[in-house]
Amino acid sequence: MASIVVVGTQWGDEGKGKVVDLYAEDADVIARFQGGSNAGHTIVVNGETTILHLIPSGILHDHKICIIGNGVVLDPLILVNEIDALKNRGLFPMHTKLFVSENAHVIMPYHRRVDVARESHGKGKKIGTTGKGIGPAYEDKVARVGIRIGELLDKDLFQEKLKRNVEEKNFYLTKFFKESPVDGNEIYDEYLTYADRLREYIADTSLIINQEIKKGKKILFEGAQGTHLDIDHGTFPFVTSSNTVAGNACCGTGVGPTVINAVIGVCKAYTTRVGGGPFPTEATCEISDRLQEVGQEFGATTGRKRRCAWMDTALVKQSVRLSGITGLALTKLDVLTGIEKLKICVGYKTPEGKKFTESVPSSQKLLEQCQPIYEEMNGWTEDISKARQMEELPENTKRYIERLEQLTGCKMVLVSVGAGRKETIVLKNPFKFK
Ligand code: GDP
Ligand code: IMO
Ligand code: MG
Repeated sequence: MASIVVVGTQWGDEGKGKVVDLYAEDADVIARFQGGSNAGHTIVVNGETTILHLIPSGILHDHKICIIGNGVVLDPLILVNEIDALKNRGLFPMHTKLFVSENAHVIMPYHRRVDVARESHGKGKKIGTTGKGIGPAYEDKVARVGIRIGELLDKDLFQEKLKRNVEEKNFYLTKFFKESPVDGNEIYDEYLTYADRLREYIADTSLIINQEIKKGKKILFEGAQGTHLDIDHGTFPFVTSSNTVAGNACCGTGVGPTVINAVIGVCKAYTTRVGGGPFPTEATCEISDRLQEVGQEFGATTGRKRRCAWMDTALVKQSVRLSGITGLALTKLDVLTGIEKLKICVGYKTPEGKKFTESVPSSQKLLEQCQPIYEEMNGWTEDISKARQMEELPENTKRYIERLEQLTGCKMVLVSVGAGRKETIVLKNPFKFK
């Protein structure tokens, strides 16, 4: 099969970077379709770690086309730094090409300022954003005042649009937040240097992808964040500002839905979340600290400690439905080794006894009141990090995996037992699905 989407099934950081890097070997084109540098995708190859925020996780392979699609909001400074860092480490392969959609919206300094100001001045509960300006940049896109990366190449147009934006943003920053204004001239000069640096990468990427599809090439769409951070389907308002579900792979790159053949959902063997928002299994998890320590659960973008708790299959089952997931990639199973009894949340119940097993309540108030309904399973003590076949796993590990398949209604295509590229049990290659 030719076109595969990889998405997160929880609240991000499921290990999408590792999975995309692994599948990229068989792909020709790897494309990011949403989010921005709020993402932090980690790849570990031969003990060397690379964290990518904007560049697709296929970049370490030679002879690929990597695309940052129109649906991404792009911070040009972060992209320039990421390109330079890869080149300096000799990790930007010679025959791999990077393209940035001319229609991708640019994150401006005032977006970051507004993002941070809102979080620090906000009265109610904080969203706990990454502070990268993601929400404000998407707001400007939808308000039709945002600046596209292609527009940076037209100095007069850029100057005119920037002037209008700076005027409005400074009014907001100074009058509403009582903060200092941004300097439009400084931004203009700074961003023209990025335009010069990025000129060679800016292209009509929808055309490129569709031409590759016509040639019969294999396309891998790389999601960022996770399903429950989706602006429509997630735990609103504690979400990011884009659609993270698989359907957005099409809008965010400019391909039709008919080209997608399979959707892989990446699923951590337990649950984590960074930032605010409801987390049903958190309060009743006795081993949160252990998961955080053993799993080294620190944000790859902000360094914040991730909140950790038991596996929640109600969340994952909903993700399977929302993205039409055809196979699950289970990650970080090794982190569960040594835990005597494993709990799996299979649904929720309200204090009044109302049960939710087929869906996650959309009302945040209700979800916050919900108690998880748990099943318990026996754990295992054997080291599983050397396993490369299902048969090499302890019986209890296999039982845990099988139960997750039953509860989510979806088969595993991959089981990851370590951060390294090779620490993986591949059950099915999604590019060879029937
Ligand atoms: P992403 O945002 O979905 O790409 O995930 P992150 O990179 O933010 O977080 C996943 C973390 O888990 C990274 O540090 C990975 O190196 C690590 N990781 C991925 N798979 C495994 C695994 O199977 N076992 C262990 N121990 N670590 C893993
Ligand atoms: P990857 O791709 C985990 C979370 C933030 C915050 C909320 C909104 O690495 O899985 P934003 O800056 O997007 O406005 O923040 O979303 N968040 C992530 N959490 N992984 C991510 O990306 C995330 N990107 C955003 O912590 O709660
Ligand atoms: Mg991450």
